[in-house]
Amino acid sequence: MTELLQRQIDYYRARAPEYDDWFYRRGRYDRGELHTRQWENEAQQVRDQLHSQSGFARILELAPGTGIWTSELIQIGERVTALDASPEMIAINRAKLQSGRVDYQLADLFAWRPQRQYDMVFFGFWLSHVPADKLATFLDTVKAALKPGGRLFIVDSRQPDLATAHTGTEDLGQDLQKRVLEDGRRFDIVKIYYEPSALSEILRRHGFAIEAATTKDFFLYADGVKAS
Ligand SMILES: C[S@@+](CC[C@H](N)C(=O)[O-])C[C@H]1O[C@@H](n2cnc3c(N)ncnc32)[C@H](O)[C@@H]1O
Repeated sequence: MTELLQRQIDYYRARAPEYDDWFYRRGRYDRGELHTRQWENEAQQVRDQLHSQSGFARILELAPGTGIWTSELIQIGERVTALDASPEMIAINRAKLQSGRVDYQLADLFAWRPQRQYDMVFFGFWLSHVPADKLATFLDTVKAALKPGGRLFIVDSRQPDLATAHTGTEDLGQDLQKRVLEDGRRFDIVKIYYEPSALSEILRRHGFAIEAATTKDFFLYADGVKAS
């Protein structure tokens, strides 16, 4: 594994206890009531799209983190396999959900290969951390993990400036960002923002029948299927 990808894992391991502040707009991420309300409305729009289909027997969630989306996935599926490289993230996810229907696996997604196929694959705020030169291999892995006709759902960040101000995040160019934890520790990680049309095109080239869209300011999402 490259040093950059190892540092990215180290960053999320260290960030696990404070991670939810970002999604729930608390502490350093609190930018006022109006902002929070808009964020929540847009997050709800993505949730509504996710919940537009249900009854999946087996869902694979890649990089589930603290369970913000795992908690949605167990509402639309029977079993969720949740695969993350951070034991700290998995511990928080497990403690929050306390669900016997989630199977956790500690794994590096750049080395992992699926042993079976799933009815749905989901990843939230993960695609943007996949380096450009690893994207094709990663999407091949996703394809291999999905049954023909299986559903692929992706959600990710849209506009960096609106979502991350006041936290020390800096664009370093070349798909890299500087991130700063509450205690001041600094990590450089991969962060790539996709336009919906470009993402749809990339996914279609990889064999998915899918359309990406955005909410007004904050989120990019894509919902579709593996072409049979
Ligand atoms: C931005 S968080 C997203 C968490 C969650 N999906 C969400 O939307 O809140 C990225 C997640 O990727 C995990 N991660 C980072 N590098 C990884 C790798 N190489 N293999 C597996 N998981 C990794 C981190 O531990 C973290 O949980």
